[in-house]
Amino acid sequence: MSSIKHVAIIMDGNGRWANKRFRPRIWGHVRGSGVVSDIVKAADEIGLKALTMYAFSTENWSRPIEEVSTLFKLLKKFLIKEKQRIISNNIKFKVIGEIQNLPYETVSLIKEMESLTQEATGLQLTFAFNYGGRAEILRAVNSFQMSQPNRLMTESDLNNLMYRPETGDVDLMIRTGGEQRISNFLLWQMAYAELYFTPTKWPDFSQSEFKKIIEHVSCRERRFGNVCSQDALEQSIEKAENNKTAFVKGVNL
Ligand code: IPE
Ligand code: IPE
Ligand code: MG
Repeated sequence: MSSIKHVAIIMDGNGRWANKRFRPRIWGHVRGSGVVSDIVKAADEIGLKALTMYAFSTENWSRPIEEVSTLFKLLKKFLIKEKQRIISNNIKFKVIGEIQNLPYETVSLIKEMESLTQEATGLQLTFAFNYGGRAEILRAVNSFQMSQPNRLMTESDLNNLMYRPETGDVDLMIRTGGEQRISNFLLWQMAYAELYFTPTKWPDFSQSEFKKIIEHVSCRERRFGNVCSQDALEQSIEKAENNKTAFVKGVNL
């Protein structure tokens, strides 16, 4: 079985794709939004546990207002167009990010979709919208400090305070568009993720490239700090912890 269960995608390159065709950047976003449905379908078909897609970062507010407004409209359109398909495919949907201050209609569509799919047991589909990795960590730390000020925080405390803890660590992060950076995406969850950067711009990304990348990365050896690749991350952490305790106690290793 593939070790890739949670895939995260930075859907980048829409603007450059459009510019190359002498069209406005907005056109790239419109074309790119069609690809989102294809990739969700493929993720569902191959039986991924979780798919997290970066749709709008906290830094994207710095873009021209017409572009920001197009990205908001496209989210709304996606929610309306894909509602039935998401429900009938048993997909559990959630948006991560600061959504309270988004337009009322968008927030209610998001809430509706989240509540209609809350019992679903299939693909955990997440849209990161108005999302920032640092903001997510800060929010978790502040919330812990408020509720338990007299205790030191553990990794599992922080894990549980992430927006969507059940999706767990990211196994594979794909970024389209050719840039090789993380751009404030899932900083905590990507600690041991495999990274894959493709030059393909998001509007040209396809189900077949997506499946090929997963196949290719499944063959990579993931060691998690260990010397061999037999263990999953949790087992490797446990082994490290046991060895460390034994070592500190002076046990002959
Ligand atoms: C990604 O494409 C979409 C969002 C950031 C919302 P870009 O709009 O960043 O496209 P490029 O990187 O400028 O080509
Ligand atoms: C990352 O792409 C954000 C999303 C895909 C939503 P950007 O295009 O905003 O990232 P930078 O500016 O190249 O880092
Ligand atoms: Mg970009």
